[in-house]
Amino acid sequence: MATVRTSIHGYWSSRFVFVLAAAGSAVGLGNIWKFPYIAGENGGGAFVLLYLLCIALFGIPVMMSEVLLGRRGRSSPVNTMTTLAAEEKRTKAWRLLGVLGVLAGFLILSYYSVIAGWALAYVVETATGTFSGVTGEKAGEVFTNLISNPQRLLFWHTVFIVLTMLVVVRGVSGGLEKAVRILMPALFILIIIMIGYAMLNGNFMEGLKFLFTPDFSKLNPEVVLKAMGQAFFSLSLGMGAIMMYGSYLPDDASIATTSFQVAMADTLVAILAGLAIFPIVFANGLEASQGPGLIFNTLPLAFGQMSGGLLFGTIFFILLVFAAWTSAISLIEPAVAWLIERFSISRFISSMICGVVVWVIGLGTVYSFNSWEKIEVFNGTFLENKSFFDLLDYLTSNIMLPLGGLLICIFAAWSMTEKSRREELKIKHEGAYKVWRFLARYITPIGVILIFLHVLGILEKLNLVT
Ligand code: PHE
Repeated sequence: MATVRTSIHGYWSSRFVFVLAAAGSAVGLGNIWKFPYIAGENGGGAFVLLYLLCIALFGIPVMMSEVLLGRRGRSSPVNTMTTLAAEEKRTKAWRLLGVLGVLAGFLILSYYSVIAGWALAYVVETATGTFSGVTGEKAGEVFTNLISNPQRLLFWHTVFIVLTMLVVVRGVSGGLEKAVRILMPALFILIIIMIGYAMLNGNFMEGLKFLFTPDFSKLNPEVVLKAMGQAFFSLSLGMGAIMMYGSYLPDDASIATTSFQVAMADTLVAILAGLAIFPIVFANGLEASQGPGLIFNTLPLAFGQMSGGLLFGTIFFILLVFAAWTSAISLIEPAVAWLIERFSISRFISSMICGVVVWVIGLGTVYSFNSWEKIEVFNGTFLENKSFFDLLDYLTSNIMLPLGGLLICIFAAWSMTEKSRREELKIKHEGAYKVWRFLARYITPIGVILIFLHVLGILEKLNLVT
């Protein structure tokens, strides 16, 4: 009987804590660092519109499906899928969905940690006054100096992995719950302050126009793929993080309401981050499409000029580190929990093993910004000119996460019996249940597959689209 299954790793103390933790997982570098720079690289408005569509059509249905599977299975994604496949009399191969997630988590965290390391380095830079009265050019130099120095990147990458593992070792209700309660609201308030600054001193209208006026000439299959990938990445979907967190969710909490709240909070933070950054970009004649360095080249200008900038700047980067921290924990938790279940080892040993593996893969990203900028083996393919970091980012966000999300929807909306689905979701409103089922059954899987095929050029070859 499904409802008596229990989690050996513990539970959230309430539904509210789940929302906070899941929002902590969702809100991270993806919203504040990545969303603005990908929107900037892909022309702004049209990308933002596509992104919002992807959140609504793919994000929310996948999130509900993922929490549903997690709560029903009550263990790490690999074992949850094994248990549920047996219960629903489906092939054992479903466990590979869990394995895909564990792998994606390792790969994402390996570069996520390097970028979080930039934020750590910026806490020190801001606090020591590097940016007081800084010009755009000088701010750019500070950033270039950082990323061209592998030793510094390695140092901060190491610090971040250690920080992450310190929390993971304590388990769900230890460090994690306490941290998210205070830090998430604080981050939110600080972003609002930044928007206030951008309104007063930035080119706010230009920023608004950039984010909300769609220029459809910028659209192509790659942009659609990136918007979809970003939606999965930002909501932490498709790799089991949310499934894992769902497995700690108390039985009586509503999956639909909580998923909706998490998705809303995440989207709001991404849009607000865009509103804080682009007005400063335009007021200072900076390039919106400069890539991963965008917030690191932009925000210090604001902090350098505003009164109290030293304090606000330092707090901002500290909170950015915290946002990244709560996401990083969720990236590695499925792997840590799985090793514990699989080999009956302690949480400590399991965390150590995972930490070391992630740290080692992270070296590839550390060197991606300096000595190893391009991987030559892929010359002549569509991966030409990509660095190790670009490659990991592309592979995980644009392929592994949407693929994981697609399979999650297929399992939840097709492979499970109607009875199991309804029993776990407990949606009272029949119409709302049907909307979820329709989206998860048809719209998400077909949408993801069409976007994949389109990018591979298969639809063009079949003359189905021009
Ligand atoms: N959602 C996180 C962010 O936006 C990243 C993440 C992806 C976390 C996948 C967990 C799983 O920063």
